[in-house]
Amino acid sequence: MPLHTKKKHRQYLYQGDPLAAPPPPELAAILDRHRDQPDAMITVLEEIQAHYGYLPQRQLQYTARELGFPLSRVYGVATFYNLFHFTAPGRYMVRVCRGTACHVNGSQKIIDALEKNLGIHQDESTLDGLFSLQTVACMGACSLAPVLVVNDHTYGRMTIESSVNEVENLKKENAVNGEEVTA
Ligand code: FES
Repeated sequence: MPLHTKKKHRQYLYQGDPLAAPPPPELAAILDRHRDQPDAMITVLEEIQAHYGYLPQRQLQYTARELGFPLSRVYGVATFYNLFHFTAPGRYMVRVCRGTACHVNGSQKIIDALEKNLGIHQDESTLDGLFSLQTVACMGACSLAPVLVVNDHTYGRMTIESSVNEVENLKKENAVNGEEVTA
């Protein structure tokens, strides 16, 4: 065993200006619509999120440059409102209702169980890109409380067990299909 080992240095290669190319057409269209509207930052961010499903870092950098704002201002607005997300949504958007009817029927325990099962908190996504977990105020299906919604599918009268089973089934389904999740 040598007395000293070679230090491993990470190499960082300069790969050019990431914003050298013009913004992609879909982003350019959003920015062009609001170019002369200094108060439209929230609208711009909403439209970017509606298109991409979240606020990608590169798109925020383009937004600052193209609209002439400091990047800190763009992030300042984006982080102030919790409707904005900075990570790509998972393939399965799992929403647990925490409205009054669902709450009194145990939705918090379902949220806790899903957080534990998935290893994430609310408003986060799993590292494999499969699941995002959110809570909502009311799904409009109070007679079915507690309610769980996965993408467009609504499940009523859920229990901790049935909620976790639903997630486990989706995990198995994806393991069988062996599909790669790309964010
Ligand atoms: S309170 Fe949950 S659906 Fe209305």
